[in-house]
Amino acid sequence: MSSMSVSRSLAAALLGLALALPTQAAAAPRFAIDGDRFLLDGRPHLIRSGEMHYPRIPREFWRERLRQAKAMGLNTVTTYVFWNLHEPEPGRFDFSGNLDIAAFVRTAAEEGLDVIVRPGPYICTELDFGGYPAWLLRTPGLRVRSMDPRYLAAGERYLRRVHQELGPLLSTRGGPILMMQVENEYGSYGRDRDYMATAKRQMIEAGFDLPLFTSDGAGPHYFEGGPLPEVAAVINFDGDVADAEAAFAHLKAFRPGGPRMVGEYWAGWFDHWGEQHHTTPLERAARTVDWFLDRGISFNLYMFHGGTSFGWMAGANYSRDQPYQPDTTSYDYDAPVDEAGRLTPKFHALREVIGRHLPAGETLPPLPAPAAATIAVPRFVLSESASLWDALPALSRPVSAQLPRTMEDLQQNYGFVLYRNTVPAGAQGKLSVDEVRDYASVFADGAPAGTLDRRFGERELDAGLKPGQRLDLLVENMGRINFGTRLDEERKGITRSVSVGGRALYDWTHYPLPLSDLSGLRYAKTAAGAPAGPRFWRGGFQLERVGSTFLDTRGWGKGHVWVNGHHLGRYWKIGPQQTLFVPAPWLRRGRNEVVVFEVEGDAGARSLQGLADPVYATDPDGLKPPKR
Ligand code: GLA
Repeated sequence: MSSMSVSRSLAAALLGLALALPTQAAAAPRFAIDGDRFLLDGRPHLIRSGEMHYPRIPREFWRERLRQAKAMGLNTVTTYVFWNLHEPEPGRFDFSGNLDIAAFVRTAAEEGLDVIVRPGPYICTELDFGGYPAWLLRTPGLRVRSMDPRYLAAGERYLRRVHQELGPLLSTRGGPILMMQVENEYGSYGRDRDYMATAKRQMIEAGFDLPLFTSDGAGPHYFEGGPLPEVAAVINFDGDVADAEAAFAHLKAFRPGGPRMVGEYWAGWFDHWGEQHHTTPLERAARTVDWFLDRGISFNLYMFHGGTSFGWMAGANYSRDQPYQPDTTSYDYDAPVDEAGRLTPKFHALREVIGRHLPAGETLPPLPAPAAATIAVPRFVLSESASLWDALPALSRPVSAQLPRTMEDLQQNYGFVLYRNTVPAGAQGKLSVDEVRDYASVFADGAPAGTLDRRFGERELDAGLKPGQRLDLLVENMGRINFGTRLDEERKGITRSVSVGGRALYDWTHYPLPLSDLSGLRYAKTAAGAPAGPRFWRGGFQLERVGSTFLDTRGWGKGHVWVNGHHLGRYWKIGPQQTLFVPAPWLRRGRNEVVVFEVEGDAGARSLQGLADPVYATDPDGLKPPKR
């Protein structure tokens, strides 16, 4: 046993002791901020952290990813806490299975890593509504990230519940959680000093008695709103050494004498549907991390391993040019460890840099055994299907209302809503929808009649509707905006009204389609010449040897995939993502079942295959509205 692993097992044993005695008198705090230094066990400490998120990694893989972080030379792992997943309905909390954050933190400690926790409540991270539970939007006029008492009360309850999970693991109890972040880049959002002071007070009152910090963009503008007096301020940025120099010059001017840390150094980037896939040069990341280490600057690589925004997790942005930019399901992030858990050249480059800067007495752990190989799955046919029209009674209980209700009005967080009506006598002309959140597939008497895409601000469609026809608008929530000032407005479905030829339509039937339980679906062999329209497809494949794979969705249009009941997430032919990651733990030897909900396209032959590697390709037309 090397001296490293002796001290690691000693540390693990001591930690075990500390965790076994959570109610005893607190041990001396392990971690402190002292002027411009971090102190660990009384000695100056440089934080070499990497970010990964427990819900974006199947629990079975946590230990392997954490071990990889340690092997790259990191000594800390940083995670957000995902409020929306932990409290899916008001007051109903879930910290089990893949959401067992305390188990994630303990596993990190067992692997010799300290932990930084960022509980939000707002966390951004390309996550639906920035991590806020969608049910907050059921309260009309509620303002998140503000002094709105309704918001503050919900956030306080959540923080107290998180403390029940993490309290015994804080560094003030001898645990691995060194420090925690207050809010997230509030300087990019607002200037309400009372709100930030309250966010901090709520954390302290919830029991988080350890060192706190804020993180913000690196510039005077951001410092106006984000940092708090007496609370360490760290900065977030990407780029090269020159960017790092500029960023720290700004920090020094604003907060001389505080610790120097990059809370998020973006060593990769995420993707929006319809845009190009992002990669970032490893040389740049290596040079900049080298610069940090030369100067004793602590850092957190965002992301060390991005993983996957499974299910409905993905969020969205907007920009000056585009009202809506939904994030892809993959959160690979071009990170040092890829979506399938494989070490990339960026991993090796950063490991080499960190290895050159280790303090005396520390050595790099050996390279971990490679992650289990990904597998290819031969093409298989999904021969059975169920049309959405037939499946409605099994999936949804309809709700009637005079005007279209939003998804939140219907007490629904994620998925689709089907809005049904009859084109009234005398109504002729364009269909206009005010406003689609986020993508409507329009059907006249069950047949496809066009789409409305929020990415292009589309509100009108020449759907050729005729009086007496059944009008169906299948509206997909493609992820709530997670960054910027439009957070509060992110209600989904149809937000106001629908008209045909200028005549408003009343008396709607709504079918909420959260698609959280597909067990009631009845499939049948798809008949040749079955009509086009939204359809659930079922098929399966046999495995002798289980391994992670990338399900190739090329040839499909737009929809969602479940494998053995696990919701992988969204696919969309426009790319850049053309494959969906299927983690090995969700597969089994023998038969595996795949269900696809395809919103577009005809009812022709449907098949899928698994690939050993992801495919990225952007449809050149994906950024333009379709020609009509
Ligand atoms: C900011 C946020 C993160 C994430 C990154 C971009 O820094 O704090 O949550 O959204 O941007 O990936």
